[in-house]
Amino acid sequence: MKKEMEKAFNKQVNAELYSSYLYLSMESYFQSVSLTGFSAWMCAQVQEEMFHGIKMYDYVHERGGKAKLEAIAKPEEKWETPLAAFEHILAHEQHVTALINNLIDVALDVRDHAAKAFLDWFITEQVEEEATVGQIVDRLRLIGSDSSGLFLLDTELGKRIFVMPIK
Ligand code: FEO
Repeated sequence: MKKEMEKAFNKQVNAELYSSYLYLSMESYFQSVSLTGFSAWMCAQVQEEMFHGIKMYDYVHERGGKAKLEAIAKPEEKWETPLAAFEHILAHEQHVTALINNLIDVALDVRDHAAKAFLDWFITEQVEEEATVGQIVDRLRLIGSDSSGLFLLDTELGKRIFVMPIK
């Protein structure tokens, strides 16, 4: 793997681990307001982002590179409402999608077609993530200040479990 590609991958490993850290902070927020279903959903999201980071980390080594870990930025700690938290997730995931697109641009620039093929999995994953989170944002907007609607959604989100995708 060319150095430029390795550097770009290492940057993305950090971005994925930051995502995991941000969602762990949200998990803590949801626990603090006793929305246990939301917090369980977030816990699955934490694991999913960690998986993304490790998948990239492993790939750097698989291609003969060296994964380099940088400091992870401090995430925000609280949100005004569950809707504000999910709007934050949606904006963050849109940002991550842009980062993956940039990474693909680097792969194409250095003619690393193997890296491009590897990154296609992440593109599909981003489409799914943005759709799922966008749906939750829409539902939270519909719920508004109706607490029974919020508790129903909490129960539904609590059913999510993280299943490790087959590598
Ligand atoms: Fe790893 Fe949510 O993108």
